[in-house]
Amino acid sequence: MKGAIKDDELTVIEDGGILIDNDRLHAVGTHTELVGTAKTLGADIRELNGDHVCLPGFIDAHTHICFGGSRANDYAMRNAGKTYLEIANAGGGIWDTVTQTRKTSKEQLIKGIVKRTKRHLKNGVTTLEVKSGYGLSVPEELKMLYAIKEANSQIPTDLIATCLAAHMVPKDYSGSPADYLEEMANTLLPKLKEEQLCDRIDAFIEEGAFTASLIRPYFSKARELGFDITVHADQFSTGGSAVAVQHNAISADHLEASTSNEIALLANSNVISVALPGASIGLGCSFTPARELLDAGGSLAIASDHNPGSAPMGDLLTQAAILGAFQKLTNAEVLAGITFRAAAALKLEDRGRLEEGQLADLSIFHTNDYKEILYNQGNFKPCMVYKNGVLSFDKHNN
Ligand code: NIG
Ligand code: FE
Repeated sequence: MKGAIKDDELTVIEDGGILIDNDRLHAVGTHTELVGTAKTLGADIRELNGDHVCLPGFIDAHTHICFGGSRANDYAMRNAGKTYLEIANAGGGIWDTVTQTRKTSKEQLIKGIVKRTKRHLKNGVTTLEVKSGYGLSVPEELKMLYAIKEANSQIPTDLIATCLAAHMVPKDYSGSPADYLEEMANTLLPKLKEEQLCDRIDAFIEEGAFTASLIRPYFSKARELGFDITVHADQFSTGGSAVAVQHNAISADHLEASTSNEIALLANSNVISVALPGASIGLGCSFTPARELLDAGGSLAIASDHNPGSAPMGDLLTQAAILGAFQKLTNAEVLAGITFRAAAALKLEDRGRLEEGQLADLSIFHTNDYKEILYNQGNFKPCMVYKNGVLSFDKHNN
């Protein structure tokens, strides 16, 4: 599960076949082996004409696709050389999206999530994590998490909700940062459990957001209530990965600023490192040291971080392929990062591999060689996507 993977460790089944029973994979093997069983079972048989490669449905383990507004101005200003502070002072940054999201109705938020999720599904993404964090008050965080829950019921894709009330201290909050977190811990977190809105709590550990000591009581309370922890860590400065390890987080995400110390710390823990190449591309900064993390023995997932600020592109396959080229990752490592290692970053055991008993979530590409997929750097999309055993996208009908 952890560490580097060579391409020859990847199981490739030539002339493959898959038996699907409702929403699950019943058997995976060669077509010759399985066609007899399929006939005995009286199963519907679908033969794909021409060469196809079938991969597990992709899993995007870190997104912020519930938002209002756009930050195209931030992007233009950043590329024109303006600093983070100058952009924030000109009304940009996370707070701008908070203002826009607060003005957006829950119904409009749902529409936005559904629209973005449908696009991701066409690109092979069948499970997608979605964070709150642009509400930053009890009612506004709840609005976002209700929107994610309702969007989830309207689409085949599984949306995994995460509460990111600890994204930044809202500018309109009159108390201290500690007061803000205490209020969220005492009021919002129990409500999330009561309403079954999410099982995961995230925090942005960074200068200008939250420090290790501020977050301790908040994460302790979250753990007491039974939430899993995940952390926005080491994006611009280090410190977050140590917080993730101390609090037994499931994952530490970003890690662009991680040095050999943080890499060693993560690799020796059970915390999954999540690289977010879309944020590196969006901000024009360095990539997560994925190669070093894997060589040190860590587990690496890759996610899109799709959000209106730092990662507006939102194309997991493209970004994962680009990270692979810059960080010298094997096909197997990149594909593991968006399938079974991404599933582990969400603590999901029922997906990410083509194995009996797993969900029948499939991304199918029209090619005779799996290596063509990353070679095309995201420009080559699936021709068919199955979610829970149902053909949910078919290029021929679109
Ligand atoms: O993952 N780093 C903090 N949060 C987001 C950015 C959100 C935003 O800029 O709106 C991230 O990159
Ligand atoms: Fe993020």
